[in-house]
Amino acid sequence: MKILVLGAGAGGGLPQWNCRCRNCDDARAGIIPSMTQSSVAVSANGADWVVLNASPDIRAQLQAVPEMHPPSRRGTPIASVVLTNADIDHIAGLLTLREKTAFSVYATGETHAVLAENSVFGVLDNDLVQRMDIRLDQAFEPAPGLTVTPFAVPGKVALFLEGDALDLKAMGEQTIGLRISDGARVVYYVPGCAEVPDWLLARFGDADLLLFDGTLWENDEMRQTGTGSKTGERMGHIAMTGPQGSLARLSALTKCRKVFIHINNTNPVLQPQSPERAAIEKAGWTIAQDKMSLTP
Ligand code: MLT
Ligand code: MN
Ligand code: ZN
Repeated sequence: MKILVLGAGAGGGLPQWNCRCRNCDDARAGIIPSMTQSSVAVSANGADWVVLNASPDIRAQLQAVPEMHPPSRRGTPIASVVLTNADIDHIAGLLTLREKTAFSVYATGETHAVLAENSVFGVLDNDLVQRMDIRLDQAFEPAPGLTVTPFAVPGKVALFLEGDALDLKAMGEQTIGLRISDGARVVYYVPGCAEVPDWLLARFGDADLLLFDGTLWENDEMRQTGTGSKTGERMGHIAMTGPQGSLARLSALTKCRKVFIHINNTNPVLQPQSPERAAIEKAGWTIAQDKMSLTP
């Protein structure tokens, strides 16, 4: 199985268009690598690829890696797109994948309903782009040789769907994680997760590679960096640090490779010399980078 990180960043990317935090400034200056928005490609045979989340940057992402180039005059190596939620950073790229080429979109009924309610997604020709319903805990095969099992993780609905009665740690079809296997190796992809309960930790027990929500170092990082007031908790993203943070909660996973993905531009781990980067590396984690290739 081969994994290609198309975009390691969270929504907004690095640098973010309206931000001059230290990381965004350093990315603009070329001091640290830029990151496009949240997306990963996976393949069992190197020819047929599944794109996990279609980011607004997908056009540049597909250009950046030869594996994603068209194999023929008109066509794509992308067999399917699998969506883990309806966030803009995960669905807006579908609009770029118009132009009359066949592929399938796998998503829960709830996420498909968001696409159906927003008529702009009708630009994807129904005769060519199949919308496939997935069910929690029921495996499906989005490309030859790949078995994917979706499961609910604690999370909220997309920002643009937030109502008055908002459950920040809801369990259901709105935010899912994916277990991906080629029969030999197991990868988990969880770019958004509000907390790590014991059952989720147990679920990761068979992982060879874990790609996990690395949005924030600290819950109130936006306030600390002067970039906003929203906490990680309010955004539906677990922080790395703290007693309930991902580093502590996932520390028992010692046999798999652990990689943070969906990293917000404010996160101090993006600075190679920072104590925060040293701390995650000491805890056995690395951070994803655009165009990174991973073999679990
Ligand atoms: C998130 O991960 O919280 C979302 O991508 C936020 C957004 O829609 O901007
Ligand atoms: Mn996001
Ligand atoms: Zn920034």
